[in-house]
Amino acid sequence: MVLDVFCATSILILHALCIVSIYPGVHASLGVNWGTESSHPLPENTIIKMLKANKITKVKLFDSKSSTLRALANTGIEIMVAVPNEVLATLTSATAADLWVQNNVLRYIPIGANIRYVAVGNEPFLRAYNGSFTAATYPALRNVQESLNNNKMGDRVKATVPLNADILQTTGAPSATTFRPDIESDLKQIISYLAENESPFTINIYPFLSLYGDKNFPVNYAFFSGNGVTPVKDGGLTYTNVFDASYDSLVVALRKAGYNNMSIIVGEIGWPTDGDVNANPGYAAKFNQGLADHIASNKGTPLLPNSAINVYLFSMLDEDMKSIAPGNFERHWGIFTYDGKRKYSLSLSGSGGSDLVEATGLKYLQPQWCVLDTSAADMSKLGDSVTYACTNADCTELGYGCSCNKYLDGNGNASFAFNSYFQRQNQEKGSCYFNGLGKIVKKDPSVNSCKFMLQLAYPTASSGSPSSSHSSASSSWPNASVAFPAMVFLLLHKIYLTLL
Ligand SMILES: *[C@@H]1O[C@H](CO)[C@@H](O)[C@H](O)[C@H]1NC(C)=O
Ligand SMILES: *[C@@H]1O[C@H](CO)[C@@H](O)[C@H](O)[C@H]1NC(C)=O
Ligand SMILES: *[C@@H]1O[C@H](CO)[C@@H](O)[C@H](O)[C@H]1NC(C)=O
Ligand SMILES: *[C@@H]1O[C@H](CO)[C@@H](O)[C@H](O)[C@H]1NC(C)=O
Repeated sequence: MVLDVFCATSILILHALCIVSIYPGVHASLGVNWGTESSHPLPENTIIKMLKANKITKVKLFDSKSSTLRALANTGIEIMVAVPNEVLATLTSATAADLWVQNNVLRYIPIGANIRYVAVGNEPFLRAYNGSFTAATYPALRNVQESLNNNKMGDRVKATVPLNADILQTTGAPSATTFRPDIESDLKQIISYLAENESPFTINIYPFLSLYGDKNFPVNYAFFSGNGVTPVKDGGLTYTNVFDASYDSLVVALRKAGYNNMSIIVGEIGWPTDGDVNANPGYAAKFNQGLADHIASNKGTPLLPNSAINVYLFSMLDEDMKSIAPGNFERHWGIFTYDGKRKYSLSLSGSGGSDLVEATGLKYLQPQWCVLDTSAADMSKLGDSVTYACTNADCTELGYGCSCNKYLDGNGNASFAFNSYFQRQNQEKGSCYFNGLGKIVKKDPSVNSCKFMLQLAYPTASSGSPSSSHSSASSSWPNASVAFPAMVFLLLHKIYLTLL
């Protein structure tokens, strides 16, 4: 009884604090990232239908494409547009920033685009960028927000900077976290400006990369169930998952810098389904459902109990043109396949809610596939042909632990590669030649989880050339992004082992 009263009181207090500390317009919910590095993107209206059908009310873009913003107009969907990293230097001029805001934000508000945030850069402080964007980020942020403020849009549209978790460093558990010394002064300028404008701090958190970066990472910590996990103590707080630890690490660093009341957005978070031994639909479902439940519970994190957690899932759809420099999993982050199909069951509103709703009414190319002609006389060019196909299309499904690995032999691998190229080329004449090694078949060669794709039949604006002018989420991630969460959990892992 005494305990009940105590709990009720503390919940009330926390609740009151919670209301005070949340900025207007920021409610706990799941948004999605909408990336565009696809050879055959779904029509924008199809994606918007999917957003509505799935009750997704917030999207984060990596650009500010006119057709996308027009398609999103009058849907009510909250939009984060983005300034690509390459444009940051230009926006250090206030005049240029004014023009950018005019053309990429203000133009679309009167037609009903619900733009609420401008992402100024995308992970501009990544170590891998070697500081190229560091100096321009703060001036660009300031110029964009000033322009919004001068146009009386400052209350409605907030500029923010999505940063990778490698801005943080720790010598131990979350409470030992600080900002990386080489960018600390730049960050403090940014944070101070964000606070002044009541704008959120945006961070990307990837527990998958902790696992990818460290074979000894205790896998259950990546998920949310607490099963198979020995809780890790940090002072009086207890951690059972890497998300909470990462989130609270940021809160700690912000507090040490003097900001107790920053609103936080998790700009990217998710789990891929292919391209690595730990990237599969089972783990992705477990992670994303755990995350959705965590958010729906409004439990907050150990350091900020009962606070709203705002995240944008990475990502809505698979993108087959993403760079695989960070890993073969890069093209498989979607909660939907490239053609808007569900990969696994997921209730975004929390367990027990409705499942994902797929895209409908799509047009595909003819039902035909390109495979290796095993009766070909001269196989001497096979290796070169496969390499060519894989370089110019996508073979990330073939590796160890991936969706095709168990089901294809060497010839099957060649067929998969040929088909991937054939479909990428819209089944054009000659695209199944491969030095006389390819042949077209009418029966789907897919086997079990190994899907031989059939391409969508839509005009392909970006076919053949990646949208290189827009930095997109993760073409940019190097190993650096692995560093922070892995580090936290290496250390937590050590604590965990000593507890055993
Ligand atoms: C926290 O931020 C909100 C929104 O800006 C503000 O109203 C409130 O006074 C702040 N609280 C503290 C303790 O600074
Ligand atoms: C990073 O910058 C330093 C100093 O300007 C330079 O010496 C180094 O070559 C750069 N590294 C890369 C990978 O660009
Ligand atoms: C198929 O290709 C993958 C990726 O290159 C490779 O790991 C695997 O060993 C290949 N399978 C066979 C049977 O050659
Ligand atoms: C990433 O890691 C690989 C292997 O550990 C290493 O060879 C490569 O240089 C790293 N890349 C960066 C950008 O740190």
